[in-house]
Amino acid sequence: MVQYNRVFVLETPEDAAAFAMGRWIEISGQSIEKRGRFTAALSGGKTPADFYRKLGGRQNLSWDRTHLFIVDERYVPVEHEDSNFRMIKESLLRSVNLPERNIHAIPTEEGTPEISAKKYEKNIKDFFELPKGAWPSFDLIMLGIGEDGHTASLFPAAPALSEARRLAVAVGGGKVKHHRISITLPVINSAKNVIFLVTGENKAHVVKEIIEDNNTQLPASLVNPKNGEVLFLLDKSAGMLLS
Ligand code: 6PG
Repeated sequence: MVQYNRVFVLETPEDAAAFAMGRWIEISGQSIEKRGRFTAALSGGKTPADFYRKLGGRQNLSWDRTHLFIVDERYVPVEHEDSNFRMIKESLLRSVNLPERNIHAIPTEEGTPEISAKKYEKNIKDFFELPKGAWPSFDLIMLGIGEDGHTASLFPAAPALSEARRLAVAVGGGKVKHHRISITLPVINSAKNVIFLVTGENKAHVVKEIIEDNNTQLPASLVNPKNGEVLFLLDKSAGMLLS
């Protein structure tokens, strides 16, 4: 049974976003105090937009010490309506004065998703100055969960799930609308903090499967950082089936 450190069921999605904000402030403050910087990887999708907007209202966070990476991206131009980076830019980046050099988007104009994944992997390795075979340890990775139990762009039974060497991979075909680039499970499981932000009744069944039934067929169940904390932030609807 994967031991989840903490599950919080909040009344509304806004409460869950506010709780996530509190954790972000705490983790970023601790990271900057200890290491002089705060590294976070953000997921896309619909759920986190409200949280990112709340963050965008906090000018007084140490944005100059904050480095933002993207958990996964659809292989589309940044101005495309399905681009995660576009959503993050519109909800957060345009509201805070984060230096350009602190924004580490997933390149999606490299010719093929594979080339983009390799370039993103190199960007992460260079930033963290990783020795060969080492994994980056993000201070915080924000994750969502799809109704099929996927997280990042790691879908059930996908080959990407068993990737044990690469930091980022191209994910394609199947039922996903666009090819994607995603960080891999070993990167997620090397994080110091992982926050799952999950809201809505449509996620209740998969939340129960992951938190209570530990259904390891579901990718989100495989998130279990060796030296990190996992926090589930749910609204009442997403948590309604938990005993
Ligand atoms: C993406 C996300 C993905 C997301 C889940 C939940 O690119 O779509 O990174 O993993 O977190 O699909 O999406 P919603 O928040 O839209 O339900």
